[in-house]
Amino acid sequence: KCDHMSYQIVEKKEIAPSVHMMKIKAPDVARAAKAGQFIILRIDETSERVPLTIADFDANEGTVTIIFQEMGKTTKQLANMSASDELQDFVGPLGTPADVRELGTVILVGGGVGIAPVYPQVKAYREAGNKVISVIGARNESLLILEDEMREASDELHVATDDGSKGHHGFVTDVVKNILDSGEEVARIVVIGPPILMKVAAGMTEPYGVETIVSLNPIMIDGTGMCGGCRVSVGGETKFACVDGPEFDAHKVDFNLLMSRLALYRSEESKCQENYDH
Ligand code: FES
Repeated sequence: KCDHMSYQIVEKKEIAPSVHMMKIKAPDVARAAKAGQFIILRIDETSERVPLTIADFDANEGTVTIIFQEMGKTTKQLANMSASDELQDFVGPLGTPADVRELGTVILVGGGVGIAPVYPQVKAYREAGNKVISVIGARNESLLILEDEMREASDELHVATDDGSKGHHGFVTDVVKNILDSGEEVARIVVIGPPILMKVAAGMTEPYGVETIVSLNPIMIDGTGMCGGCRVSVGGETKFACVDGPEFDAHKVDFNLLMSRLALYRSEESKCQENYDH
């Protein structure tokens, strides 16, 4: 039997409570990766597949960075791995790259762990010649990840926390609304975060007529358009987030359907979690 590829964890750290950063040696993925794409990993043959949007990549170093939150059995198991351990599968880059072009001023919004996939987009939009205003938020200061990196990569950075422990006391959407109300000419807004945040953001920006893009993270299994697990409704049409997305026009996404499907899945996942704990 020939040696199968395996993917070494070259760096790992907890960057916020229960939020972990991992740098994985995956030269082929690193070389082909573009902002907005994702990978699917598996710890071993028997473990569940975990789709994660790429948080950073370095083609020279041959590494891809992922950031994940401990949510269920598999992500807890992943959090318990350490540098030099190996992952069985690390498939990607998957999905359609973000449509990054020179547009003028772009607002990039990241909520919670959604800040991680926003980071490569900030760099890409800036490289393409845009003025990038970044808005990041979390429940509290300790959950605010990549603040220094985002400040460094953006023309302007705004911070919001739900409890007011840092920056604006409130939601990222308030900050975005203030920017729009200030008369700043904004060509596009990209929002990545929990579905409820993306839904609220979509509703807020619609009356302003500013193009708004969200990156959806539904349930994904194969990541190749075969299983249908990631189907979402966009503009009344069924789309597969893994191949048609993960980015879509926020004003056309049926967020209620997305959220009800995720809730159903989570309740099944928590049953699985109980089996792991006991
Ligand atoms: Fe299976 Fe998209 S993950 S179709």
